[in-house]
Amino acid sequence: MILSIFLLVILFLFLSMASASAEEKPSVHLLATGGTIAGKASSETATTGYEAGALGVEDLLSALPEVKDYARVTGEGICGIDSKDMTDAIWLTLSERVNALAGEKDGLVVIHGTDTMEETAYFLQLTVNPSIPLVLTGAMRPATAVSADGPMNLLNAVRLAAHPSAKGKGVLVMMNDTIFGARNVTKGNTLSLDTFRSPDGPLGYMNDGIPCWCALPVRVPKEKAPFDVKGLTALPKVYIVYGHAGADGAMVKAAVSMGAEGIVYAGTGNGSVHREDEKALAEAAAKGIPVVRSSHAGSGSVISAEPSYEKEGFIQGGSLSPQKARILLSLALTRTKDFGDIGEMFGKY
Ligand code: SIN
Repeated sequence: MILSIFLLVILFLFLSMASASAEEKPSVHLLATGGTIAGKASSETATTGYEAGALGVEDLLSALPEVKDYARVTGEGICGIDSKDMTDAIWLTLSERVNALAGEKDGLVVIHGTDTMEETAYFLQLTVNPSIPLVLTGAMRPATAVSADGPMNLLNAVRLAAHPSAKGKGVLVMMNDTIFGARNVTKGNTLSLDTFRSPDGPLGYMNDGIPCWCALPVRVPKEKAPFDVKGLTALPKVYIVYGHAGADGAMVKAAVSMGAEGIVYAGTGNGSVHREDEKALAEAAAKGIPVVRSSHAGSGSVISAEPSYEKEGFIQGGSLSPQKARILLSLALTRTKDFGDIGEMFGKY
């Protein structure tokens, strides 16, 4: 009798300790948007020609029970798309959802296609409450492929989102064991697993599941989101015009006639503008359409160059890639049309 009471007490203590340790695990919520990580191909050897975003968050989680060792993981689907088809409406929904979850969870993971992952990461960095870690991840090989990279990427993203050291570092991208900051990360190879890079190097690595930091991100919002997009259903229309030899201003004029509220010029070198495009851009700026000079060189900053650019009111895009300058200009236009104020935001974010 005494022995059975003793055994019952031991069992009770064991069970309460087990449940207490489960309680202590951080809560990490997954927001799935699709991509190759959720892609299904017709064979295990196919790495192209698959349907991106075919699997739901439950499918991804049930294939990876190991995540439960690191966090209390929950999830939901936002959409199931190939990220090349990302829209303002999905971004606005995602941003609102992240903001709603920021007070409830310890960390968030956004499952995303790699093609526009860098853009979504930067959009979120500018629009969400930075109080908890937010990590984007995806895969280069579909879930059905031999040696798919998605499961390890997802596991590492959950481990990173659950780790206290990820807090305060802005929105992060975790791919191929490497951690990047949202502002500087870019997809750099069409097919390689090791496709993400940053001109200034990564922020760190996931060493056997543990974040090991080697740099700090710059221009990361600390207190609150720089832009409030709550309640918006669309974003101001900003087009990117690509600078190249033989330009004739036609693409700039097309952007204006399609109702551009802002234009980002992806120029050559130090945001240099072809003289024919410059005439059309100067006309656009004179009509009150802000023009941001950026560069398709891939790294480095766009600073002052020709005196005419300043006279025409062109804004310097700094070190933002054209696709990220487009996001910042669009968000800036939700607040102001003043070229000087927009220029200041480019110096800040
Ligand atoms: C996508 O961006 O949705 C497809 C490509 C990928 O995820 O690698």
